[in-house]
This record gives sequence, C-alpha cells and structure tokens, in this order.
Amino acid sequence: MTDNNITKDAMYGAVAPDDFESMIELDRYEQRSTAFDKIISATHDHFWDPLDKRYIDFDEPFDLENVAMMPEEQQPLLRLPYIAEKLADPKERIRFINHMQLWNFSSILHGEQGALNLSASLCHVLKDQGAQEYAANQTREEARHVTAFAKYIKSRWGRPVPCGAALKSLLIEIIDSPAVYKKIIGMQMLVEGLAMGAFANGFRFNRDPLARKLFQLVMTDEAFHHKFGKIWADKTIPKLTEAERNLVEDWAAHCAQSLLFNNGSPEQQQVIYGEFGLDPQRVIEDIMERRKNRDPKKRFKSETNVFRVLIKTLLNAGLITARTRGFYAMYIDMDELSAESTRMVGDDIAEEGIRYLQAINFKDQARTVSIAAE
Ligand SMILES: [Fe+2]
Ligand SMILES: [Fe+2]
Repeated sequence: MTDNNITKDAMYGAVAPDDFESMIELDRYEQRSTAFDKIISATHDHFWDPLDKRYIDFDEPFDLENVAMMPEEQQPLLRLPYIAEKLADPKERIRFINHMQLWNFSSILHGEQGALNLSASLCHVLKDQGAQEYAANQTREEARHVTAFAKYIKSRWGRPVPCGAALKSLLIEIIDSPAVYKKIIGMQMLVEGLAMGAFANGFRFNRDPLARKLFQLVMTDEAFHHKFGKIWADKTIPKLTEAERNLVEDWAAHCAQSLLFNNGSPEQQQVIYGEFGLDPQRVIEDIMERRKNRDPKKRFKSETNVFRVLIKTLLNAGLITARTRGFYAMYIDMDELSAESTRMVGDDIAEEGIRYLQAINFKDQARTVSIAAE
C-alpha cells in the first residue's frame, strides 16, 4: 500500500478528505488516543474572547501619525543609504515604519485564516478521535485569532493589504494537500513556529500596548499548536525510512524557503516603496549591496528573530540533516543553534499570558500553569 501520509503512529493516521465512511467504522470509536488530552483540557485555562473587553479592548487608541509602532532599529530598511536620504523627515519615517507594520499585521491575518482552514481540513483527514478533537479545538482558537487581528487592523488602519504571493501559494498548497505530513510540517511546525517568533518580537518591541496584549493572548494558544507539531515529529521522524525522511526534509526546506521569501523579498514589497515615492529598483540595489558586505550568519542573530526560531524548530525536530544543513547555514550559525536549549522562544510570554487569563477565568480558584506537550 502506498501511504501518502507517511503515518508512523496510529494517532496521526489519516484517510482521504472525502472518506467519511471510515469515520463511522465501529472499531474506530474504541481507539481514541489520549495523547492530546492535556492540550485539549488546557484550553479552558487559556480561554479568551476578542469581543469581550474584560480580555482585550480594541477601542484603545494609538497615535499612528506621531508615534512609530516599532523602534527604528527594528526597521533595517531605514538604514539603507537611499531610503535614509529620501525619508529624512521624521514624520515620513514614522509613516514608513507604521506602513510596514500594516503589511506585517496583514500577513499575520492571512496566516491566521490559513491556520483556521488548515486545522479544519485536519478534522476531515485525521482518523483518531482525540487528534480530531485537538484539530477542532485549534480551529476554534484560530477563528478567534482571525477575529482579533481583523479587529486590530480595522482599529489602526481600517483595512488589511493583500496576502503576499509566496505566503498565499504556501497556504493554498498545505490546505489543499491530502497528505498529513505536509499539513503538519507546513502549518504546525513552520507557519506556527514563524508566528511564535514574530509574536515574541512584537510583544517585545511594539509600542502599542494593545498590539502587545494581542500578541500575548494569541501566543497562549499558539504555544500549544506548535506542540501538536512537535508531538507528531517526535513520534514520526525517528521511524522514517531514508526515502521518506528525504521527502519530509525537502518538504520542510521548501516551506521554509517560501516563508523566507515572503518576508525577505524586496520584489514583494514594491507596492510599499511606491507609496513612499521610492524607486523599488534603487531599494533592491541597496539591499543587494548590503547583503554582499555582511556576514550572512549575522543576519538572524537575535534570539527572537523569526527565521532563527523557525530554523530552530526544524533542527529540534530532526528535520535538518547534512543534506539540507547547507541551505539553512546560509542564514544562521547552525553550530551555535545546536548548542542551545530546546525551549521554544515565546513559551515564557505564553505562560505569563495564561496566568493573566486564569485570573480572569478562574477568579477564586488556584491553578498551575504548564504548556504540556503530552
Ligand atoms: Fe493562530
Ligand atoms: Fe495556531
């Protein structure tokens, strides 16, 4: 039998998206895995509602015209000689930083919509009831993320900007694919890993208190989504044949490249440059010049750098071997990364967020906090 899903553990067993008959097999009902029960029951602890002001209030104002959402150091484009010269007026610089944030928040919003559809699609293919309950629960959490980011963008800018081409095609690819490994690696490991890095970064540097609160609330959910991918990797990767492993590893590199391209590609940001009277070609030339003169491994040095977090996720999961190490080493120092702890960046922020939510959700009860993997 050919197994497109590369199933190595029954709890991740899957059927075709239109095979409902398999779902009503009598034996199946008795075989529910308990592996996700802790994650499922923890959802009560980190429950929040974007429409309830006890959790978050989207009416809180922010002075977008006069305050840069992120510090200038966090916007390296402003240090390019051409942009520095063209955007000398402090107000224009603020407008540029905040406009880049609109692009950023819009990518997050489209990514959250992708996560909603992806986790709903997992409900149709995962055969185990426990895994299905997990996926249904994630779907519900992604739905509140879509609501929350849509409300945030509306309150700050009125309307999002379109999804970048690279992110869009990756989302379509993983949602359409019937192969479970493609879905879990693409979404739970990569997009969610990237999101944890991006949210941790936003939580640290964003000057809008509402944005910081939003990131933290979303992270209380995302930390668990990422764990679902990690459990899959722990159960699956050690058992792969060499041919399967190569397939899975190449898929991971393909997804990572799409995400790197989405954020790092100046071509994708041409619309933005036009908005500021900048010649996109000149910006691209400056970027190329800077890349030539910089140690590439220094690029993603910061602990919360989103790509560093993403590559660390893959390394911890055993999805980077000698075959693909060179590809990632173009971006970061792989030896340095191997020596670090496996604790996920952002877990501390998520735990603090869960304590905040517990104080609202369980006013009179003492609870403990843990981001349980199993
Ligand atoms: Fe999400
Ligand atoms: Fe998620």
